[in-house]
Amino acid sequence: SLPRVYVTRKVPPDGLQILRKSGQVQLELWDSDDPVPRRELLKKVKGCDGLLCVLTEKIDAEVLDAAGPTLKVLSTMSVGFDHLSLDELKKRRIRVGYTPEVLTDAVAELTVALLLATSRRLIEAAHEAKTGGWGTWRTQWLCGYELANSTVGILGLGRIGVAIAERLKPFKVKRFIYTDVEPRPELAEMIQAEYVSMDDLARQSDFLAACCALTPETQSICNKNLFSNMKKTSIFINTSRGGVVNQEDLYEALATGEIAGAGLDVTTPEPLPTNHPLFTLKNCVILPHIASASYTTRNAMSALAANNLLAGLRGDRMLKELHL
Ligand code: GLV
Ligand code: GLV
Repeated sequence: SLPRVYVTRKVPPDGLQILRKSGQVQLELWDSDDPVPRRELLKKVKGCDGLLCVLTEKIDAEVLDAAGPTLKVLSTMSVGFDHLSLDELKKRRIRVGYTPEVLTDAVAELTVALLLATSRRLIEAAHEAKTGGWGTWRTQWLCGYELANSTVGILGLGRIGVAIAERLKPFKVKRFIYTDVEPRPELAEMIQAEYVSMDDLARQSDFLAACCALTPETQSICNKNLFSNMKKTSIFINTSRGGVVNQEDLYEALATGEIAGAGLDVTTPEPLPTNHPLFTLKNCVILPHIASASYTTRNAMSALAANNLLAGLRGDRMLKELHL
C-alpha cells in the first residue's frame, strides 16, 4: 500500500496539489488554518511514513515516539528549524526537508518595510492622522531616522541578510557590517560588508537587523549587553526568531531610550499576548510573523515542502534537505 502522509495544516494550493496528483501517497490532513491540537497530532502520526508540518508544531521525542518506526521523512514548510528536535530526528535516521531560498525575497522585502515603518514611525504617524493628533504641520513632530549615510549591521549573514543589504543599498547606506560565528567572505563580498565583533556591531550600527537562525548559540543573543552598546539613535529589527532576543532587556532598552526603536516580526511567545508591555511602547512595531507572507512565496514554500517529502519517501535526494 501507499506510504501514509500526515499534513498538519491547511497548506497553500500548490503544495497540496503536488501531493494529491503524485498518486504516490495516502494523504490525511488537518484541514484548518489553526494548529492541530497536540493530542490529535500524537494520534494521527501513528504509523505514518511521512509528516509535513509548519513551524507551530513542536516535533520532539514525544511526537516521534508516537509516530513509531514507520516515520522516515519529515518536511517542514519553513526555513527555520528551531521547532524540530534535530538530535531526536537524527537518532531515528529520519530525513528532514525544509524551505530555504524560495522565501528570501519576501522576507527581505518585509524586513525593509518593517525597518522603514519603525525608523520613520509610520504606524504611530498613521494612528495620529486618524485619531485627531494631526493638529498642524510641526517642524520636529514624528521625526525619525534616515537610511542615507547610515551604517547597517547584520547579525547572522546568510542569504536573507545579503538580500536585505541589496535592497537597502539604493537608500544610500554608507556602510554594511556584519557578525557571525565566523567570517562569510563569499556572501560578504556580494554586499561589500565588513566583518566586525558583536560589540562593534552594536556600537557602530544605526540599524541592526537580526537575520540568524535560532540555535542554542543564538538564544537570547540580543540582550542587555547588546542593547547597552547600541547608539541611542539606533533601530533594532528582528525577522528571525523571537528566541534570539531577551524581551525584558529589549523592553528596558526601548522604555529608557537606550535605543530609538524596534521592529519585530517575531516574538516570544507567538502570538504575543495583547497585554504584553512591548505593545504599550510607541517605539516598538510588532507584526504577527508575516515575513514570508506573500501568495507567491507561501505557494512556493508549500510546493517545495511537498516535493521534499515525496523525494524523501522515494529515497531520492530532496531539493532542500537539512543534513543532520
Ligand atoms: C518562517 O519564519 C520560516 O521559518 O519559514
Ligand atoms: C514638506 O512638505 C516641505 O515642503 O518641506
